[in-house]
Amino acid sequence: VANNAIGYNAAVPKVSLQLPDSNYVITVEPGLLSRIGPELRALTPASKAAIITDENVASHHLAGLTNSLRKTGIEPIVATLNPGEDHKTLPALLPVFDQFLQAKIERTTPILALGGGLVGDMAGFVAATILRGVPFVQIPTTLLAMVDASIGGKTGVNSPQGKNLIGAFHQPIAVFADPEVLKTLPRREFISGLAECIKHEIIRDADGFAALEKNIAAVLKLDMNLLTELVAHNVRIKAKVVESDPFEHGERAHLNFGHTFGHAIEKVSQFTYTHGESIALGMVAATNLATNLKMLDPAAKHRILTLIAVAGLPVSGMHLDAQAVFDAMAFDKKVKSSKLRLILPDRFGHVVIRDDVPPELIRKAIEGLR
Ligand SMILES: NC(=O)c1ccc[n+]([C@@H]2O[C@H](COP(=O)([O-])OP(=O)(O)OC[C@H]3O[C@@H](n4cnc5c(N)ncnc54)[C@H](O)[C@@H]3O)[C@@H](O)[C@H]2O)c1
Ligand SMILES: [Zn+2]
Repeated sequence: VANNAIGYNAAVPKVSLQLPDSNYVITVEPGLLSRIGPELRALTPASKAAIITDENVASHHLAGLTNSLRKTGIEPIVATLNPGEDHKTLPALLPVFDQFLQAKIERTTPILALGGGLVGDMAGFVAATILRGVPFVQIPTTLLAMVDASIGGKTGVNSPQGKNLIGAFHQPIAVFADPEVLKTLPRREFISGLAECIKHEIIRDADGFAALEKNIAAVLKLDMNLLTELVAHNVRIKAKVVESDPFEHGERAHLNFGHTFGHAIEKVSQFTYTHGESIALGMVAATNLATNLKMLDPAAKHRILTLIAVAGLPVSGMHLDAQAVFDAMAFDKKVKSSKLRLILPDRFGHVVIRDDVPPELIRKAIEGLR
């Protein structure tokens, strides 16, 4: 990350991400959606752009994007997916490949993902594979996609064997995040995205955590200035982690804080808890566990649990069988050599990877969520 202004109040709208074989800029700016035509023109001379979106996002935001493209002389080709994780499959993409190939897209035609993480992952997979790879642009429309899914180049679809098991790394050439579009996002989805923001502060930024504590009420009211700062700040954290570990061999694992527990909770709840709600509970379990192991002081734990609760995320009342959650954890793909690998906080802005936690304590941490 070239511009190193750290801190929640550093409202620099552009974050540049530098990887071994790609560089791109993530722009965070209210109203950006209606200016994407010229932004794209500055990156490519292409006369066409292929958009992938979903029905919900299209109903609110597609016209803004296509108008901007047309005004710049870029002809949009649009494929609209069915929303919902059930539709994140390879078969759902086959008509999209057909449509784009029939429209004679070329190696230089950019594919634009207009949507949340689902659209971003699926569109990225199309961009990675169609004609053996075309330029890809992320236009994230959920908070989760802005601060997490749109950055880092992981793309893919689900299969009957599990989530995101078919995919590729394919970095975008640009990410355009317009916080204004969050105004139409369902409340529960917005709050779920906040879980990833809280996660970022806990693993990387003590000052950012304090700033979020201070600003959470205004963020929940969608104060556009604060929201822009929050998104830009979180983009910076995610970008830095990705830069340091583009292919997920090492410290990118820190982003899994709350996720080993969270994925299991999500699965056992049969997705009645959203991803954000599941990882909120997962962060609570990991935080409690860290305190029980005497790694984290109880005052820090109290602040973490309070912020999660104030954000509107669950910290207790989990109605799932603790043993079922424990068993599901053992199947998580992040398990290395049959040991459970947990990311645990030891102070604000810092986490450690532990694979030596006694199963009994893990079970107790899950039990504590009920
Ligand atoms: N690639 C990565 O690194 C990465 C990281 C995290 C998550 N993911 C993936 O992201 C997906 C989840 O993403 P998500 O949480 O953004 O969910 P999502 O894309 O399913 O969007 C959630 C819901 O909100 C709707 N929506 C999106 N933007 C809207 C807007 N502005 N206004 C109104 N409605 C809107 C969608 O249609 C959908 O119904 C999962 O498939 C997950 O695997 C990928
Ligand atoms: Zn997550």
